[in-house]
Amino acid sequence: MKFLVINGPNLNRLGLREPAIYGSKTLTDLEMDLLAFGEVEQIEVTCFQSNHEGDIIDAIHEAEDQFDGIVLNPGAFTHYSYAIRDAIASVSFPVIEVHISNVHAREEFRHTSVTAPVTIGQIIGLGFKGYELAMLALKERVGGIKR
Ligand code: DQA
Repeated sequence: MKFLVINGPNLNRLGLREPAIYGSKTLTDLEMDLLAFGEVEQIEVTCFQSNHEGDIIDAIHEAEDQFDGIVLNPGAFTHYSYAIRDAIASVSFPVIEVHISNVHAREEFRHTSVTAPVTIGQIIGLGFKGYELAMLALKERVGGIKR
């Protein structure tokens, strides 16, 4: 089973960026943890981060024949990118949306996700753990279909 983890804009700043909200661990820490978790769970994990909407869209499209699912934290694109929403809707594998922080306890603009309706679900506010939970949920959903 192969999953792609996509982190969107500003998530390369984890560890430096608003540590009271996002914690002190870096994107590299997160990606290393996910690779190790993948090994334990027998999931092949590939991580990708971009600050650019088009690059995230391309990564979603290109994942079609290569991955069984995507764990996606679209960052602020969550709240307004219809283009990323359409990219998710265009692929046949499941996508789970993850947010490190509890967006519902934050500013009003973060309460809306334009991408969530085309994912199979969201995991919000559980820190880095949310990515692992998303992988477990994807693993169960994808079931027997292994690449
Ligand atoms: C975030 C929440 C978004 O509102 C914000 O723009 C981010 C990170 C999260 O993981 O909590 O960049 O997606």
